[in-house]
Amino acid sequence: MSKKNKPIWGTRISKRTPGIFEKVSSSIHIDKRLYKEDILASIAHVEMLNRQKIINFKVKNKIIWGLKKIQNQIIKKQYLFDYKDEDIHMSIEKKLFDIIGEDAGFIHTARSRNDQVLVDLKIWMINSNNKLIKMLDQTIKNILKIAEKNIYTIMPGFTHLKNAQPISFAHYILAYVEMFSRDKQRLINNFISLKENPLGSAALSGTSFNIDRNFTTKKLGFKIPTGNSIDTVSDRDFVLEFLFASSVCAMHISRIAEEFIIWNSDAFKLISLNDNIVTGSSIMPQKKNPDPLEYLRGKVGSSYGNLYSMMTILKGLPLSYFKDLQDDKKNVFESFDNLSDSIKVLNEVLKNFSINKNEMLNLANKGYVTATDLADYFVKNLNYSFRKSYQITSKIVNYCEKNKKKLSDLSIIELKKIEPNTKDDVIKVFDLKNSINSKKSYGGTSFENIKKMIRKYKNA
Ligand code: ARG
Repeated sequence: MSKKNKPIWGTRISKRTPGIFEKVSSSIHIDKRLYKEDILASIAHVEMLNRQKIINFKVKNKIIWGLKKIQNQIIKKQYLFDYKDEDIHMSIEKKLFDIIGEDAGFIHTARSRNDQVLVDLKIWMINSNNKLIKMLDQTIKNILKIAEKNIYTIMPGFTHLKNAQPISFAHYILAYVEMFSRDKQRLINNFISLKENPLGSAALSGTSFNIDRNFTTKKLGFKIPTGNSIDTVSDRDFVLEFLFASSVCAMHISRIAEEFIIWNSDAFKLISLNDNIVTGSSIMPQKKNPDPLEYLRGKVGSSYGNLYSMMTILKGLPLSYFKDLQDDKKNVFESFDNLSDSIKVLNEVLKNFSINKNEMLNLANKGYVTATDLADYFVKNLNYSFRKSYQITSKIVNYCEKNKKKLSDLSIIELKKIEPNTKDDVIKVFDLKNSINSKKSYGGTSFENIKKMIRKYKNA
């Protein structure tokens, strides 16, 4: 083996592993994405080593100069990521030897790849969580615009996909502001563990060098150093938190996607998608298919997959570091990419659909959606219990069904036949607007409430 091609452990281990093992154990095609973070953390590390008089000033400067040169080469695509170097950490360290010579050997004093990979990944995740949070802010803004324009757009609210009670379209779409706000909060909560600095835990037991973990903590923007070096190199809770948070967000996106697919269908026709968010069929010339929405509905599957994959890797894994953990990055990167693409697609969808208000109103006029209002009317006006009022209303609905009438078609005489104490003013409860406006309970669908909700979200 020539020295150049030898792995760093080539002095101890005389034989190369079979090619297939080199292939499967190499993660450079995935973790090369961490090169900036790796260089940033290495610079902080050698600065600390020098401050603590563990390496001298000249060596520190030489290393930093070399690292910056490597960064430039990578940015300019003049850098070869060789899978034989196993991972980004080994790759950069080897390259540093090529550039500055033997002094490169000081860089790995008082650290291990076990803490190095964690510091890189945490820095990367803090930045990407911030990106997702910003993108969700945009989604929320887009939703608020739609809500503002549709306070008085009436639709049937569904349970079990059956017409249930009339609601405002704004109220419906604002439900997603709640979901995406919780998604944001979950990503923010992730910062609690992400902001603990793993650097300095070394392989698992810490180090005998007099390092200053508080210095690297501050320098790299962390809050505190992690508390137990064994836990640090074994812990991937922060990864699980992210994979869960991104799965829930992807799941919320899949729900609005599914609703829009149904509502855009020829059977419902409640919304229409603009031409820029539909695709054609290779055989049926008339088709306009909601492919982007189907992409959103389907993508959640791989987010769940990554979460389960990581949960399974961690199950029963003894302490501390094992190669099994290397897959964490693939899971995080894939879930991040999926979610960030999905939010972008969703943001486009939100700007490119229209509401068929008449269809919505027509549908809201079907399915006896004011039946609950009628039952409430009997409670309030005749002093009946709700259960008794419910039974009377059921009879009235049965009568309507039999006679092919809507509740609002009924005459007061017909109503009195079933409930003799009914008064003339009952008619107002069949009006959809009245029904919506009567739901003044906190969080309910009344127009007044919706205006307040929009104001609250805008000021949040
Ligand atoms: N590429 C490795 C990973 O991501 C870095 C840590 C390797 N440590 C080791 N002792 N093999 O997990």
